[in-house]
Amino acid sequence: MKVRTHRCGELNMTHVGKTVVLNGWVQRRRDHGMVMFVDMRDRTGITQVVFNAERNAAIHQSAHLLRSECVVSVTGQVMARPDESKNPNLPTGDVEVFVDTVEVLNESKTPPFVIEDDAEVTEAVRLKYRYLDLRRPRMQRLLNLRHAVMQVVRRYLNGEGFLEVETPVLTKSTPEGARDYLVPSRVNPGQFFALPQSPQLFKQVLMVCGVDRYYQIARCFRDEDLRNDRQPEFTQIDVEMSFVDREQVMSLMEQLIVTIFREAGGVQLPTPFPRMTYAEAMGRYGSDKPDLRFEMPLYDVTPFAAASEFKVFKEAATKGGIVKALIVKGGAATPRSRIDALGETAKSFGAKGLAWLKITAEGQLESVIAKFLDAKAFAAALPDAKPGDLVLFGADKPSVVHDVLGRIRLTLGEELNLIDKTAWKPLWVTEFPLLDYSPEEKRYIFMHNPFAGPMDQDLHLLDSEPLKVRAKAYDMVLNGNEIGGGSIRNHRSEIQMRILDLLGINKDQAHAKFGFLLEALEYGAPPHGGIAFGLDRLIMLLGGADSIRDVIAFPKTQRAQCPLTDAPSAVSADQLKELRIKLDVVE
Ligand code: AMO
Ligand code: AMP
Repeated sequence: MKVRTHRCGELNMTHVGKTVVLNGWVQRRRDHGMVMFVDMRDRTGITQVVFNAERNAAIHQSAHLLRSECVVSVTGQVMARPDESKNPNLPTGDVEVFVDTVEVLNESKTPPFVIEDDAEVTEAVRLKYRYLDLRRPRMQRLLNLRHAVMQVVRRYLNGEGFLEVETPVLTKSTPEGARDYLVPSRVNPGQFFALPQSPQLFKQVLMVCGVDRYYQIARCFRDEDLRNDRQPEFTQIDVEMSFVDREQVMSLMEQLIVTIFREAGGVQLPTPFPRMTYAEAMGRYGSDKPDLRFEMPLYDVTPFAAASEFKVFKEAATKGGIVKALIVKGGAATPRSRIDALGETAKSFGAKGLAWLKITAEGQLESVIAKFLDAKAFAAALPDAKPGDLVLFGADKPSVVHDVLGRIRLTLGEELNLIDKTAWKPLWVTEFPLLDYSPEEKRYIFMHNPFAGPMDQDLHLLDSEPLKVRAKAYDMVLNGNEIGGGSIRNHRSEIQMRILDLLGINKDQAHAKFGFLLEALEYGAPPHGGIAFGLDRLIMLLGGADSIRDVIAFPKTQRAQCPLTDAPSAVSADQLKELRIKLDVVE
């Protein structure tokens, strides 16, 4: 094999006349009789190489052997293409290489799909042949983007005095709310490590160590239901800082994200990022991660509903629930079948129904429930609803109304093309409740993680009205995606213990689970706080990918399997015996 002089994406008019060596893969071969064109590809791009019978008959003959995806090394001369055959869509499109020698370095079986961006292929096949899938230009672009983002992260954080520290992967359970992946310990029979759901506990301990500013590009493991924005194994940009308040963390981290988008993606995010409290976000958009690329807010019409004659509204509004409305501008022409389908969608989201009314051009209310409503009172309650609009209602307890209408809002945003796909709408959501109540478990659960500190002005509510206590927590949202979240922590152990108590975690349990952190807090823990960003989600958004699987080199499927390696898989009886594990699996 000859050592290459250039990459396949590099050649241009300045190289004309030079003799070059290119190594790469055969993308495609086009037979024009006396002339054979071959597109040669490597990570950097494609160059057209020409096997010309007039220039070299033997070489032209050998070109017939070149099959798709075989690996070749060619030597040849760079020539300017004639004007009419220049390809403006290809960075190397002004030139071609006339081949003098060719060596086939390796053959390739016929690939199961063509190595092109628009190849028709299922994801299952792509993941099984990931090494072929990743040869495609789009996937190469995403790999490059991921690399670039990680470099910017390191450069930026190093510049701000952060120390990169690695924390263990074989560790104890970290409370982030998902199930753990467990790893049996052979030398400690019957005992298990847990893979970290995040480095949360260790990064707090690092603050007690005096590390002051920590970061890690950290692998996290969560056994949870998978979606397009979730993987069982994913990467966080994990950050923790000492002697800071919320403002400092948020402004530095906003700058980090702005820098990533500018330097790695050429995107200028609008600054400063707007902020919204959790209560505002839920109330106005029915979501704690609102997509601000379109408006369509939720309107509170509870007083109107309470005074109406419609039973569903009246009952909800007078029995502690709420009634909220979405206005679909110009939606009065929506056919009944479509509205009914939306109603079914709402039911699938957990609603009991989706009441609606149309406002006719004359301003009349048109609906099966119109007879129960007073048109004047309605106009006063919802002045933004105009003739020609469709209005949709949710009536239930607040959590249901917000969730359902929030999701209907997103459904309509997509369907009606209301979302400006070119826009970037970052947002901070703040003041999350510290606790949530789980009706199934009949106890308080944490909203973020159990180490988030309560807001000072709410401390007095901790015993009397714990659900009203807000946390010093913040999430960063981009275009409706939660890309990061963090908080100022409880650096004082007594407040931390009170919160654990509320969560129903008693002293013994707390010490068994994360006693090392609680103990560390007793040895001069500085005030501290931090955040973690979902690196995969960031790259998915920046790279315009639909799924985080596209920005992870070797991802898992929705069923948490890896088709390439066939993991997870059964292990030998010997291995199990050594680990003292007996299986209880029905075939
Ligand atoms: P949190 O659980 O919010 O916080 O995670 C931080 C960010 O990680 C991303 N993320 C995921 N990405 C892909 N697949 C997943 N399964 C997945 N789960 C989460 C999200 C999320 O915003 N220790 C805290 C951070 C802190 O308080 O400093 C934590 O892990 O983008
Ligand atoms: P019904 O009186 O049950 O026939 O419902 C009349 C209309 O109200 C239908 O369009 C239902 O979808 C809707 N509806 C029923 N329950 C609710 C609810 N909890 N919230 C919003 N709309 C509802």
